[in-house]
Amino acid sequence: MLQDKRILLIISGGIAAYKCLELIRRLREQGAAVRCVLTKSATEFVTPLSVAALSGDKVYSDLFSLTDEHEMGHIQLSRDADLLVVVPATANILARMALGIADDLATTVLLATDTKVMAAPSMNVRMWEHEATVSNLHRLRQRGIEILGPDSGDMACGEYGEGRMVEPADILAAIQAHFVDGGRLAGLRALVTSGPTHEPIDPVRYIANRSSGKQGHAIASALAKLGADTTLVSGPTRELDPGGVNVIHVETAREMLTACEEALPTDIAVCAAAVSDWRVKQAVDQKIKKDGAAPSLSLTENPDILQTLSQPGNDRPRLVVGFAAETGDVLEKAPPKRARKGCDWIVANDVSPGTETFGGNTNQVHLITESSSESWPQMSKQDVAVTLARRIADQFHPPAAAE
Ligand code: CTP
Repeated sequence: MLQDKRILLIISGGIAAYKCLELIRRLREQGAAVRCVLTKSATEFVTPLSVAALSGDKVYSDLFSLTDEHEMGHIQLSRDADLLVVVPATANILARMALGIADDLATTVLLATDTKVMAAPSMNVRMWEHEATVSNLHRLRQRGIEILGPDSGDMACGEYGEGRMVEPADILAAIQAHFVDGGRLAGLRALVTSGPTHEPIDPVRYIANRSSGKQGHAIASALAKLGADTTLVSGPTRELDPGGVNVIHVETAREMLTACEEALPTDIAVCAAAVSDWRVKQAVDQKIKKDGAAPSLSLTENPDILQTLSQPGNDRPRLVVGFAAETGDVLEKAPPKRARKGCDWIVANDVSPGTETFGGNTNQVHLITESSSESWPQMSKQDVAVTLARRIADQFHPPAAAE
C-alpha cells in the first residue's frame, strides 16, 4: 500500500503519455496522493483536464504562471513529494535532466529536488540506441536516478525494438518496491565483486573468461536500492557502472583482492566475480614475438578472494556470500565448496554449455546455507539480484521486525 505517500509525476510529451492516466488511477487506488506536472508537449498527448480529474489535484505546467508560482512554487512542488517519477521520459527530457537544463517547470522541479527520481524512458529504438541517449542515461544512472525499462516491442512509429515504455503495472511495482524495501539495508555497508579478471601474459595478451559481470552488477545495484552503502569491485566488463554505487575498476585478481581489502570493514560481501584461478608466473613487459617455437606459459595460483574475506577475524563481514559456477551436478558440488571457502551462503548455478548463463540474461540458481538448500526458478539476472538482496535484508532485519 502507498497510503500517505506523495508522488509527483512529471509527464513529458511522448506517445506513451496516455498510459499515465492508468498509472495515476492505480496509484490513487493504493492510497497515494498524486500531483502532476506536464511539459508543454505533454499537453498535446493528454489533456490537463483528464490528468486533473484522475489525480484529484491541480495540474502544474507553467513555470512563469504567477498563479502557479503563487499557489505552489517549483521548490515547494519538489519538496512536497516523497518520490518523483518521469513518465514517459522522452529522449529530450532525459537529455535536459542529464545536462541540468531547467527551461520549464518540469525540468526546474527536477533540478531543484534532492528526492529520489525514477524515469520510464519511451522513444523510438534509434533514439534509444543513439550515443547521446546512451551517455545521458549513463550520467543519470550514476546520479542515482532509477531507470525503469524500457521494453522491446512494436512501436507506435511502426518499428520494432527497444524503447517502448514499461507498462503502468511495472512502474507501480517499482514504486511499491521503493517504499516497501527501500531503506531495509540502510546503515549497512556492502561489498560486491563482479566480472572476470584479466591476467596479463605480455602487454597485449591476457588470460580471461566469459563472465559478463551482469549478475554481480545487478546485485550491487539491488543492494544499493535497499539502502546499503555499496562498493562494487569490478573486473573489465561492458556493463555500465550501476547508479548509487561506489565502483572500483580493476584488471587482475590481485588488484581485486587489494581493492576488496581496502573496502573493508563491511557488513555484507557478495563475491560474484569469475576470478581467474591462475595467472602467468612471470608476465613480460615486451610483446612475445613469434620465433618458430610456441611459448609455454608457466602458471601460478591466484589468491582466493572469497576464501580470504571469509576468514574469521575482526574485519570479516557479518554475511559472506559466494557463487559456485559448476557444470554437472550442482547440488552435489556446491555444499562442499561453501564449506571449503568458509562463506555463509553460496549461490550455485549451472554454467554447462547450453545453459547460456555466462553472458546471458537469465540464471537458475540454488541458495545453499550451512543447514539448507533451496532452488529458485529460472529468472532474469535482475530478479536473482533483487531476490538475493531481499534475502540478505531478511537476514539482517527479519521481515516481522522490518515493518
Ligand atoms: N573466487 C574468488 N577468488 C578466486 C576464485 C574464486 O573470490 N581466486 C570466488 C568466486 O567469486 C565465487 C567462488 O569463489 O564466489 C567460487 O568460484 P568458482 O570459480 O566456482 O570456484 P573455484 O574456487 O574457482 O573452484 P573450481 O574452479 O575448482 O570449481
